Amino acid sequence: MNQQMAEDKEETTSVVPENEDKQKYKTSEHIAFYRRHKLRQAVKYCALLDSLVLTQKGACMELFEPKSKLRLLLQVNAIKNGSMRLMIDEVHPIKERYQVPDVLIGEPVHEHFRVAEKGMDSVTITWGIGLYQVRIYECPFKLELLCKDEVTVTFNPDGRLFFEPLQEPPRPGSALNQDHTGLWQETFGQFVDIKANGPSSVGLDIRLHEFSNVYGIPEHADNLRLKDTSGGEPYRLYNLDVFAYDIDSRLGLYGSIPLLLAHKCNSTIGLFWLNASETLVDVQYTPNENEGDEGPPVKRSRKVHHTDLHWISESGMIDCFVLLGPSPSQTFSQFAQLTGYQALPPLFSLGYHQCRWNYEDEADVKSVDAGFDLHNIPYDVIWLDIEHTDGKRYFTWDPKRFPSPVGLQKHIAEKKRKLVVISDPHIKVDPSWPFYCEAKDGGHFVRDRNGTVYTGTCWPGESSYLDFSCPHTRSWYARWYSFDMYKGSTESLFVWNDMNEPSVFSGPEQTIPKDTIHHGGWEHRELHNLYGFYQHMATVEGLMTRSGGTERPFVLSRSFFAGSQRLGAVWTGDNVATLEYLKISIPMLLSLSVAGIAFCGADVGGFVKDPEPELLVRWYQAGAFQPFFRGHSDKSTKRREPWLFGDAVTTAIRSAIEQRYCLLPYWYTLFYLAHTFAQPPIRPLWVEFPEEERTFAVDSQYMIGSALLVCPVTAAGIKEITISFPGSNELWYDVHTALVYRGYSDQTFPVTLDTVPLFQRGGTVVPRRTGCGSCTADLQQFPINLTVALDHKGCAEGLSYQDDGHSFDYRDIKKFSFRRFLMKPGGLACRSADEDGSFSSECLVQFVVILGMRKKPSEVTVHTSGFQIPVNFQYEEAFNKLTIGDLDLSMEGDWDIRIQ
Ligand code: NOJ
Repeated sequence: MNQQMAEDKEETTSVVPENEDKQKYKTSEHIAFYRRHKLRQAVKYCALLDSLVLTQKGACMELFEPKSKLRLLLQVNAIKNGSMRLMIDEVHPIKERYQVPDVLIGEPVHEHFRVAEKGMDSVTITWGIGLYQVRIYECPFKLELLCKDEVTVTFNPDGRLFFEPLQEPPRPGSALNQDHTGLWQETFGQFVDIKANGPSSVGLDIRLHEFSNVYGIPEHADNLRLKDTSGGEPYRLYNLDVFAYDIDSRLGLYGSIPLLLAHKCNSTIGLFWLNASETLVDVQYTPNENEGDEGPPVKRSRKVHHTDLHWISESGMIDCFVLLGPSPSQTFSQFAQLTGYQALPPLFSLGYHQCRWNYEDEADVKSVDAGFDLHNIPYDVIWLDIEHTDGKRYFTWDPKRFPSPVGLQKHIAEKKRKLVVISDPHIKVDPSWPFYCEAKDGGHFVRDRNGTVYTGTCWPGESSYLDFSCPHTRSWYARWYSFDMYKGSTESLFVWNDMNEPSVFSGPEQTIPKDTIHHGGWEHRELHNLYGFYQHMATVEGLMTRSGGTERPFVLSRSFFAGSQRLGAVWTGDNVATLEYLKISIPMLLSLSVAGIAFCGADVGGFVKDPEPELLVRWYQAGAFQPFFRGHSDKSTKRREPWLFGDAVTTAIRSAIEQRYCLLPYWYTLFYLAHTFAQPPIRPLWVEFPEEERTFAVDSQYMIGSALLVCPVTAAGIKEITISFPGSNELWYDVHTALVYRGYSDQTFPVTLDTVPLFQRGGTVVPRRTGCGSCTADLQQFPINLTVALDHKGCAEGLSYQDDGHSFDYRDIKKFSFRRFLMKPGGLACRSADEDGSFSSECLVQFVVILGMRKKPSEVTVHTSGFQIPVNFQYEEAFNKLTIGDLDLSMEGDWDIRIQ
């Protein structure tokens, strides 16, 4: 596509006819390295047991393949956090192979290995108290990981280990011209990929014993529980810009997290395949589900079932971590210890965001902003898409549409709201633009394989692409976010990185060619899936530097990799305004959440096409219970601000957004728990009910923290909905009616336009604000209301985290308050959950509502600072509900409410 075409595309419409668009992308039959792995007979590697060496870091040993005489180096380590690492590289590569940098957050601390047993054809090593063992078999080579003497994972059970060693290129005119197997070059449509290093792929089969439910490896528009891929497409991990992507598809979307979780009743484990090149994963459940009925797994005989995985990457080396769990929460924490914890978002970013491609000009922005006030709908952030710039030159402003950006930001900031602007990685080729010239002169662009700066087309027409893999480029780029360089920016401006797969309209599969060259001489193919992660990282660095490291940044990125959770938020790209896309947003976000990306959302309303008003309402209701909550729409759609569809719709949307704001104390606490303990704010039911098989494939309802169960309505015109309550010992309280339901039962509820089924689990305490004002900054004015939902024993527990909502003082000078609420029969206590923190807010607990109170109390008293004060209460026998009002108890002090 030339510049004119790019401009036409942008000017006329952004809707690409669907079928034509989908042919842009490869299926597995177009991928030569995948075909090579699949067609190959099993290869017999032998482990040279005598070559075993135990070092401080673990064990290494050589593997040998007699036919090709290839020698590989196997390294195995056990890491202190509860994971095992297996690496396979060439013993003597002709040049270094790519090992993913910058994703792991530090040098892992290793356990000491010892040999536990030497058999005729195997050696067994162990560490620590000997709970786990690694057994390496000689010939054919396979490696078993045992837990308590039971084989849990086998590597290379079927001999699919296949490693293409780097070779000298063939002489000109020889194999290159007859290369039909895609070894040295590969053609897709009009695109030719010349492979500087020739074939370099790696692959391995992995068996997960007695597991028949696997999850993760986002991003795909597919179910939460991964499907059996036999006879179909593998899950593809290759970051691509796919407009109006198909659903129920395994095509790689905008980001990739090569983390797969496997779960069974008494154990969860993770497999993290640290490779940033194109990767395909085949999943086969045994017994094979594709041969029988589709759908959730049935109980199978204990001995036979397992899941076979086949991971194949185009390049790099085999670097695979097994997160040993054994609980879901330990698995999340092991992943975070390797790749980092979720960044703690500034509070405003958990509010509602209003976006559109595009808000046309300053007057338009102000009028939308005023619309929210006029209709009493809280919101925090208004967004500007690409048209705010001067000719798609990021860091500039369109002089006609946005002549006074500082004035505009002040106007918004006076209302304590923020502005987010887009900043993409493609840079308009414009020798009269200082940013472009500096980037070119500084060597900050990706080059083609001949060493010339690469150009492709994107929104601005002919563009070059910043090489964010280079640390100098990242710091150079970061400096452009400082207030003196980024003219017209103020501290209330935050950033959105889009198109960073990267999207290249003129490139193969609409991305940059794999044979372009990055910093260090690495081909793009080695690090493709890292590109967006690196831009995200550079932008975060920019916002950090701009504030002198004092303010928490907010950056949304479309593309991501493992570790992106440390940087900010992601969203699921160009979805469509239909019910199917609303529905799939739930498993997509749950898959991201279990893979560490806690701050994620989907475009509310659907980006492409116009939603029916009912769908718009349903989407707001769902979005209000998803971590990142932003309404967004394509430029060719009709305007859809919440007040444009009549009173009933405005009222329903207002109510959804208000519920979100009132629940922010809970969300913020959940984000603190994600930031500190790696527990995802939204979680599949199986995470909370790991023993309950019937929850394993559920992805239409999910938990928010451990207290709330939500089941957004994702069907049109329905009159009732059935909720499956998990947990045979649980009680579930309807948040709207206070009625209680037993766990392990299905219940049907009537549905109106206002219905959002939401239930609080017995045994939990949820903090809410009693009102919400116009944005998150107003929340402080409203006291807290605690809802205590009792379990069968009359007990409950909950947490509340608070800080200033925007700075790093919580971390640097421990300015935070983390409180625990403990309800036992006889009373509720508020105590510190972390004595290290201190934070004084004027936040008061005004009401406590206790659900499940079987008997009217005779007296309720508050005990605080040595005083004992009787308080008013109201008891509703029909609902077993006790409301204790007018309390005004400090959130920071210790107190008790005694109930007699
Ligand atoms: C593609 C993004 O996914 C979408 O959200 C954005 O509005 C357009 N690019 C234009 O920048």
